[in-house]
Amino acid sequence: MQEKYIDETKQGEAYAISEKQGNTKKLFLESYGCQMNFSDSEIVASILRDQGYNTTLNSDEADLILLNTCSIREKAEQTVRMRLSQFKRQKLTNPSLTVGVLGCMAERLKTKLLEEENLVDLVVGPDAYRDLPNLLKETEGGGDAINVLLSKEETYADIAPVRLGGNGVTAFVTITRGCDNMCTFCVVPFTRGRERSRDPHSILKECEDLSLNGYKEVTLLGQNVDSYLWYGGGPKKEFKNASDLQKATAVDFAHLLELVAQKVPGMRIRFATSNPQDMDLEVFRMIAKYENICKSVHLPVQSGSNAMLKAMNRQHTREDYLELISKAKEIVPEIAFSQDIMTGFCGETHEDHLQTLSLMREVEYDHGYMFAYSERPGTPAHKKLEDNIAPEIKQQRLAEIIKLQGELSSARMAGYVGRYHEILIEGTSKKNQNQWKGRNTQNAVCVFDKSPDQQIGDLVMVYVYGNTQGTLLGKIEQTHLAN
Ligand code: SAH
Ligand code: F3S
Repeated sequence: MQEKYIDETKQGEAYAISEKQGNTKKLFLESYGCQMNFSDSEIVASILRDQGYNTTLNSDEADLILLNTCSIREKAEQTVRMRLSQFKRQKLTNPSLTVGVLGCMAERLKTKLLEEENLVDLVVGPDAYRDLPNLLKETEGGGDAINVLLSKEETYADIAPVRLGGNGVTAFVTITRGCDNMCTFCVVPFTRGRERSRDPHSILKECEDLSLNGYKEVTLLGQNVDSYLWYGGGPKKEFKNASDLQKATAVDFAHLLELVAQKVPGMRIRFATSNPQDMDLEVFRMIAKYENICKSVHLPVQSGSNAMLKAMNRQHTREDYLELISKAKEIVPEIAFSQDIMTGFCGETHEDHLQTLSLMREVEYDHGYMFAYSERPGTPAHKKLEDNIAPEIKQQRLAEIIKLQGELSSARMAGYVGRYHEILIEGTSKKNQNQWKGRNTQNAVCVFDKSPDQQIGDLVMVYVYGNTQGTLLGKIEQTHLAN
């Protein structure tokens, strides 16, 4: 999956089938929003597989429909509401159908969802999926059921996810849940709760299992992977009360990366998302040290203006960010960066906007995800700041940063032309059945003609002879299989 954020204007993705013999009930599970939701859906499918449910891609034949939802922008919620209204009609003709909302909208709206969206039977927040079997029993008599309790400990560490997404080559492994950063615009700390890290043993085991099952790439996931810290469990803030032994044996993110790199040397390792304020140069040293850790970092900046960064409660300045980037480039000269940027945050001036454009030019991002600010109820920005930039101005600035990112991406892609790249074959190109698509270590997509001796999951050396704005055009000259 190239997109970090699935475009919410598209319908969510109902994933491939999970089958267990003897299961008779059918689950239609659709995910919206970030990679974490897609990863959580794999945990939900695993829990429900043990309750007699196999997944289906056809909502018409479902006994249970679950939407794993996103609240990050208003539009994301609107998309889900539209989808729910479609299922309402299906429920009118099939009263035994159960419809449930999971994820961030469940957490944000709680019982309101049962009231506003009548015919939703089930509301389950991101930390309550273990309770699904009980909640489903409650709905059996036709009643509603809800569990939106947030947890300080839940990491689903012991649940083996059912791999729904796809290509059998790339997979997500969750390493932290929740976020304590409280960026003023962001709903995530409210919908996903306190930050907590997962036991490294279970992370390593999951990566090893993936490797044994033929997977070739793992993306370590968290809202804020750089603040990963394992010292025995619980919120990070309690670390200051940890015992000496706990402190001596604590594992931080750079250390975790090293452990994973050593555990699965035949697998590529990526991670998302990093936060500039928590990122340690040690992470870049690990990227330099281990060939199998990919040379690409998604490092959201949101704005290039110090005034905006302050209003957003980002704990770094423009200068801190640029210094981090330049040190990273010294440690890993081949490193590529991608960004998240938001336009039209409260009080953003034209000058602030120009600062964002100039920062983008300085960093020379390979790629980016850009959004117009959307006020979210209950966030600090909603309570204390005024959403005072006109929608047209937000959109105009958004168009300008998207255009600039297009130019930067083209230039970066052109820089990859004229040499060999190691590409992991992830599937067939959407545009041309006769071509493979895969990515280089910098996460740039490359397409090239198929030949009979290759298959999905092969690591191949590809000569890149040209590029479009976002894609490398390659040709294969020698096959080099992964070790
Ligand atoms: N650390 C998280 C960030 C989650 S939000 C991660 O794993 O990616 C992803 C991006 O959505 C943010 O970086 C920000 O650019 C954007 N975003 C968050 N809240 C937003 C809002 N209220 N309006 C518009 N964009 C928002
Ligand atoms: Fe949101 Fe900031 Fe955390 S963007 S997810 S509060 S790092």
